[in-house]
Amino acid sequence: MHDARIPPRYARCDLSNFVTYPNEKLQLTLTRARKFADTFPAVTKGLCLIGPPGIGKTHIAVGVLRQSIQRTGVRGLFYDVRELLKMIRSTYNPVVRTAEMDILRPVMDAELLVLDDLGAEKPSEWVEETMNLIVNTRYNERRPTIFTTNYEDTPDDSNLDSLKVRVGFRMHSRLHEMCEFLEYEGPDFRMLGPGSGAEELAILWKDGKGRRALPPKARSQARAQLRENDPLRSLKQPGPSRELKWPGGKAGRG
Ligand SMILES: Nc1ncnc2c1ncn2[C@@H]1O[C@H](COP(=O)(O)OP(=O)(O)O)[C@@H](O)[C@H]1O
Ligand SMILES: [Mg+2]
Repeated sequence: MHDARIPPRYARCDLSNFVTYPNEKLQLTLTRARKFADTFPAVTKGLCLIGPPGIGKTHIAVGVLRQSIQRTGVRGLFYDVRELLKMIRSTYNPVVRTAEMDILRPVMDAELLVLDDLGAEKPSEWVEETMNLIVNTRYNERRPTIFTTNYEDTPDDSNLDSLKVRVGFRMHSRLHEMCEFLEYEGPDFRMLGPGSGAEELAILWKDGKGRRALPPKARSQARAQLRENDPLRSLKQPGPSRELKWPGGKAGRG
C-alpha cells in the first residue's frame, strides 16, 4: 500500500466513509465503484469519474484503489496527471531514455492505475503523445485505469471545455473503449463546515446548490489543442513527431 503513492491528504479516504445522500448519479457512481473494487481484477473496463471539483471523485478513486489492493494484493498506483508529467519531464534526457522509462514503466505496468485530474494539464503535442503512450499501452495489455476529470463529456465538438477537446480525440475515443463513464454533480464538500455530513449535503443539493457549471477554462489553450487535433497536421508539418519530445516551458498548474 505504501508504494501506491496515495497522497497523504487522501490517506483516510475509502469507500466506507464516503457520505451519500439522495443524489441519483452520485449513488450510482458509488455503486459502480464498489462493484469494481469487489470484482477486480475480473473487470473488463476501468472507470472515468467526471464532474465539478469537490464532489469526491478523487476520494472514490482512492477508495477503489485501496480496496482493490487490500483485497487482491496487486500492485496499484496513484498519480495526479500533472505531477506525473512533471516527473517525466524532469527525468528527460535526450541521449539516455532510461530515466524517463523509470517513471513510465511502473505507470504502464501497474495492475491498477489511478490517473487523477485528467485534462488539467496544459495541452501540448508532447503531453498528448505521452498520455497516449501510457493509455494505449495499458489498453493493449488490458490493464484497467481509473480516471478522474473536471471536464464534461459533451457531444458538442465546438465546446472548448469538453473532455474531447482537452485530451484530444484519440485519447477521448480510447477512454470510451476502456472505461465506464460515471458523471455526477453535487455541492462542493470542502465548503461544508466541520462535523456536517449527509444532512447538509442533502439540503444543499435540494436547494440546487450542487448543480454547478464546470469551472471556466483556458480557452486559448483549448483552441491550440483543437488545431493540434487536426488529422492533416502531420502531413502539413513533416517531422519526427512520433517521438516523445522535450515539451519546453514548465509544467502548468492550470
Ligand atoms: N461524499 C463525500 N463523503 C465524504 N468525503 C467527501 C465526499 N465528497 C468529498 N469528500 C471529501 O472532500 C474533499 C474533496 O474531495 P475530492 O475527492 O478531492 O473531490 P474532487 O476530486 O471531486 O475534486 C476530500 O477530502 C474528500 O475526502
Ligand atoms: Mg480530484
